[in-house]
Formats: sequence, C-alpha cells, structure tokens
Amino acid sequence: MEYISNSQEDTIKIAKNFAKTLSKGDVVVLKGDLGAGKTVFTKGIASYFNGDKNHTISPTFTILNEYNTNPKIYHFDFYRIKNEDELIAIGIEEYLFGDGICVIEWPERAPETLSMVKTKNVEIIKNGESRKIIF
Ligand SMILES: Nc1ncnc2c1ncn2[C@@H]1O[C@H](COP(=O)(O)OP(=O)(O)OP(=O)(O)O)[C@@H](O)[C@H]1O
Ligand SMILES: [Mg+2]
Repeated sequence: MEYISNSQEDTIKIAKNFAKTLSKGDVVVLKGDLGAGKTVFTKGIASYFNGDKNHTISPTFTILNEYNTNPKIYHFDFYRIKNEDELIAIGIEEYLFGDGICVIEWPERAPETLSMVKTKNVEIIKNGESRKIIF
C-alpha cells in the first residue's frame, strides 16, 4: 500500500489504519530520514491501541518507550545505539520474541539483531511537507 500524507494528522490516520493489521508478536520497522515522521507514525499506532494515556518512560527511555496497552507496545529508537551489544544488554530478544508489538525506528542500526526476526516494514519518504508512506 502507498499513501500520501500532507500533515501530521494524516500520518496519524494512516498509522491507525496500519495498526488494524497488527497483532501480538509483530515487529514493525520504520525506515525514513530524520524528521520523516516515524515517531508521529508510532504515536498513531499507540493511539489505535489507546496508548495515549498509558505511556511509560522506561529507565532505558533513550532506546525504549513502553505503552501499557493490550497488547503492549514497545517503541524502540535505535538511532543512538553504539553497537548491537547494547540491545543484547537490555534484553532485546525478550521483546522481539515476546507477545507485545515492537515498533522500531532506525532499524538500519541493528541489522544482525533484526535478521533473527520477521518484520513488517514501513517506509516514510519525506518530500517538503508531504510524505509518501509505504507498507
Ligand atoms: N505529513 C507529515 N507527517 C508527519 N510529520 C510531519 C508531516 N509534515 C510535517 N511533519 C513534521 O515533521 C516532524 C516529524 O517528526 P518525527 O519526530 O515524527 O520524525 P522521526 O522520523 O521520528 O525523526 P527521528 O529520526 O529524528 O526520530 C514533526 O515535527 C511533524 O510535525
Ligand atoms: Mg523519531
């Protein structure tokens, strides 16, 4: 599927639509440049699962944000990791093979880790204020 988003609100709507296709155990990877809208898209997914009011800043918040939804949503941002050992240290496998939903920004930073698991891929291509969203 390919969608055009002309605003943050459009991206939220598209993400909510995408979220309908998700279930326990899914691993979603979000590709796109800085400022493409990956975090906005994640908020859309979380709001579909009523995560707006259930947001937890976890101790590892620079890498992981948790939403106490059902299923749980684990929002990862791998941008700042130095290497994949850091992910092993936070127990990434438990999340990837657990029964929540993982949503991962900057998957390019962890090719080995993500090669272990089947992913659902979303790409956001920035073009001025407009975005092309492919999944
Ligand atoms: N169509 C659009 N969809 C989403 N965001 C948009 C759109 N148009 C403008 N924006 C703006 O672009 C920014 C997207 O920020 P966001 O943090 O979601 O990007 P990101 O891809 O997560 O970046 P990073 O790689 O730095 O984490 C926001 O400031 C948002 O308001
Ligand atoms: Mg982001």
